[in-house]
Amino acid sequence: MSALLGLVERISPYAILVAISVLIILRTLLRYLFGPLSKIPGPFAAKFSSLWIVYQCRLARRSMSVLRQHEKYGPFVRIAPNHISISDRSALETIYGHHSGFLKGPFYEDMCLVEPVLFNTRDPRVHQRKRKYLSPAFSAKNLNDYEPHMSAQIGKLMTCIHRHTQADGGVQIDFNEYFNYLAFDVIGDYAFGKSFGFLEKEEDHLNLINTIDARGEVLNALGHLPGRPRPLMKYFYLDSFWPKGLQATSDLASIGKDAYYQRRDQQDSRKDLLSFLFNAKDPDTGAPLSETEIIAESISFIVGGSDTTSSTMTNVVDIVSRFPEIQKQLELELDRVFPGPMPMGWVADFQTVNQLPILNAVVRETMRFKPTSSTGLERVTPEGGKIIAGMFIPEGTLVSVPTLNIHHDKSAFRNPDRFDISRWMNGDSSNRLESFYPFSLGPRACIGRNFAWMEMLKTLGTLFKLFSIERATTLDTEVREGFFVKNSECKVKITRRVLSRGS
Ligand code: HEM
Repeated sequence: MSALLGLVERISPYAILVAISVLIILRTLLRYLFGPLSKIPGPFAAKFSSLWIVYQCRLARRSMSVLRQHEKYGPFVRIAPNHISISDRSALETIYGHHSGFLKGPFYEDMCLVEPVLFNTRDPRVHQRKRKYLSPAFSAKNLNDYEPHMSAQIGKLMTCIHRHTQADGGVQIDFNEYFNYLAFDVIGDYAFGKSFGFLEKEEDHLNLINTIDARGEVLNALGHLPGRPRPLMKYFYLDSFWPKGLQATSDLASIGKDAYYQRRDQQDSRKDLLSFLFNAKDPDTGAPLSETEIIAESISFIVGGSDTTSSTMTNVVDIVSRFPEIQKQLELELDRVFPGPMPMGWVADFQTVNQLPILNAVVRETMRFKPTSSTGLERVTPEGGKIIAGMFIPEGTLVSVPTLNIHHDKSAFRNPDRFDISRWMNGDSSNRLESFYPFSLGPRACIGRNFAWMEMLKTLGTLFKLFSIERATTLDTEVREGFFVKNSECKVKITRRVLSRGS
């Protein structure tokens, strides 16, 4: 006995520490290499570290990299030690459908600006409560009432473009910029009753667009890191991507708070999102919402409702400006319902453009072909585990279905890598609609999808009625992915269409 005690006394505390660390690392490695997910293929590094997926996000190309891994390994790919990407459309309903029991994962935790909001709260009861009081702001009646205000912003964009087309020698416009100005002005106007004024100045004087881009990219990467190192990343000066992106998060909070305080002190009677929130009652207690909750929700709408619609509209312009025959079909359709030349200031009404088969097919096909939300939206497998697409997945496993893959699935879309608007126009498209979910589905589906649809159809209908566009390059368009995918530029040559009264 005394010999044993003597031995223990002789071992240095450092050696004990090293031994414990080695044991922990070994245990973790064994679990990752031989645990229940070990048979699922994927990049080697992703089996024992989330650095593989973080690196793909850091390069702003997560969805494309995940797509390539599925091409290599099939429908189940382990993209992080505890995260399985499932490229199978039957998994959509299982994971994202109503009452599925799958909740948003830890990815969403660091997306908080002020406090958890509708978009990033993980607690289903908090979510349900928020959705109840926010839904009326997106009712058909409310969107209808908002339409004239939306038209005013779209009219400003058209006037801007018109002014530029008057310049000698024709003009190039970067729709990446101008659709951003429009979408931010629309959402500012809708949420705070007053646009940010980007279209008037033709400038983002608040640097809001870059701020949201930088934040989106950094949070997309941060969300895949384990919880503990996340707060330290703002000090990771070796790569300015991290501190800059995280600084952008606080900049966004300040811009949003300024817009909120300006609106609060204005006593404006217009029915904007804030007026809904000021009058909303907590569905559980009947009490008014706290000011912090109102600020948090209103800022989050700037993020959710801006670059999503602008990126989708930019994608439409990028594609249509490369296909003159599609542009011609659009023009014929628009000239039929809006005959003759239209005066500057005119904006297409939603009721008419919503009925147009070609315009609707162009926007749908763009959202299928190049979805703005391409990524697999992370969810946690509920207690007891679940069978997903025929495979048992243990509880606590993170799972996601990558939208880009499903939108390019051969079993739902013939020649999926071809841009083909006819797939939405001929015959029954219900099979295709089952595999088309640019706004996600189930209880966490996009609350702003009708708002976005109205904004996109009105803007694009007006644009293609008034102007002809031609892409300024034949090169592929570069994209960067944060939480959403965005084009780096979309320069087009633009001219005013010349129409006689009878055309
Ligand atoms: C083309 C435009 C848009 C696209 C592609 C889009 C896409 C999406 C997607 C895929 C989700 C689910 C995200 C997840 O599960 O993590 C989502 C949620 C959400 N979107 Fe959109 N969105 C668009 C426009 C808008 C607009 C215009 C607004 C506001 C005016 C908005 C507000 C929201 C909110 C608040 C959520 C969270 C809903 C919840 O969790 O209950 N979105 N959106």
